[in-house]
Amino acid sequence: MNKQRLESAKLPPLKIGDLEIKVPIFQGGMGIGISMSSLASAVASCGGVGVISAAQIGFMEDDFQKHAMEANIRALKRNITDAIKKSADAGGAIGVNIMCAVSHYEDYVKASIEAGVHMIISGAGLPMGLPGICPGTATKLIPIVSSARATGLIIKTWLKRYNRLPDAVVFEGPEAGGHLGFKAEELESSQENFYQTIEEIKAEIQKGIESAKIETLKDSHEEASTAMPALAKDISIPLIVAGGIYTKEDIHKAMAHGADGVQMSTRFVTTEECDAHPNFKQAYIDSTKENIVIVQSPVGMPGRAVNNDFVKKTMAGRIPPKTCNGCITHCKPDTTPYCITLALINAAKGDVDNGLIFCGSNAYREDRIKTVKEIFDELTS
Ligand SMILES: Cc1cc2nc3c(=O)[nH]c(=O)nc-3n(C[C@H](O)[C@H](O)[C@H](O)COP(=O)(O)O)c2cc1C
Repeated sequence: MNKQRLESAKLPPLKIGDLEIKVPIFQGGMGIGISMSSLASAVASCGGVGVISAAQIGFMEDDFQKHAMEANIRALKRNITDAIKKSADAGGAIGVNIMCAVSHYEDYVKASIEAGVHMIISGAGLPMGLPGICPGTATKLIPIVSSARATGLIIKTWLKRYNRLPDAVVFEGPEAGGHLGFKAEELESSQENFYQTIEEIKAEIQKGIESAKIETLKDSHEEASTAMPALAKDISIPLIVAGGIYTKEDIHKAMAHGADGVQMSTRFVTTEECDAHPNFKQAYIDSTKENIVIVQSPVGMPGRAVNNDFVKKTMAGRIPPKTCNGCITHCKPDTTPYCITLALINAAKGDVDNGLIFCGSNAYREDRIKTVKEIFDELTS
């Protein structure tokens, strides 16, 4: 289909292996506590993919301070089960976002699969070892990348080590919220190349599919496993594009450049169903284009957030953490500029002056709270 026709066509459904997604819109995982079962099930009920963030998801459990890990695993499983149950009638798909940078990554992956999640979406680093944690799983494994190079590296590594391809790939560009996969000084040029990068990643995926087919021919005496759709004859790896996608026109434009679907997060924060505290949602509504800034996160990546009192305090000096539960592998409590977990939990609980309000570059555009259905109706009309 040519680009112009695609820009005005109805959004086509998306197939990820045996999963049929009616509307090719993923709601991106948002931690801490921003996308849990309420938002994810609402999105899945509208035909999209609802994604729960696993990041410190047990923060509201009574025993979180004492036993963070147990609380997180319990809350993660409960949120997945609830979201699947709530959206089952609509045939919704539920994913979980697990960042590579978290401690106990493997435990979160295994717990999500045990709870029956349909897909695992994983970024904040390259999830090179993900298929090795859950060999043969039917749960779809989806890496988040920020370049064609990273896409090629993941495909090659997964094929070589695990004989498995990603079931889809999410490309997250520099306009996204939360942690960004680009250096601060690369953000502008990477955004200029956003559509070109979509095309490059698409080509890299195609190259990966071709090499998988060659492998399949070589191994044709072996029966293809159903858990490894990568080895089936008709391989497809849909490309989901994220970062600054806000309107129906943005979706069609990304698709005209080769996206098979989109991932949107900022747009879904200002909804009734979003799990964030009302103060967090209000901070989006009150924000302006000028007070959305790039911050340096203790995770070692830049992030995008609302420039509130907390961000100003972190710029003025270090805020030493009082406690630490070792939630991020590379974080050093003795030198970290602040505790990211505490900052995100404060924001999620509504203490926005002492919290980090992650947001995408478009957060200033909404002026009222809507329902998820209103947004889907607008995006798919
Ligand atoms: C409040 C917020 C929290 C986020 N948290 C995470 C996260 O925990 N893990 C992750 O991989 N991405 C996270 N993201 C990124 C989103 O999943 C998504 O890919 C990105 O924001 C899409 O761009 P958009 O917000 O412009 O639609 C977060 C984004 C926001 C706005």
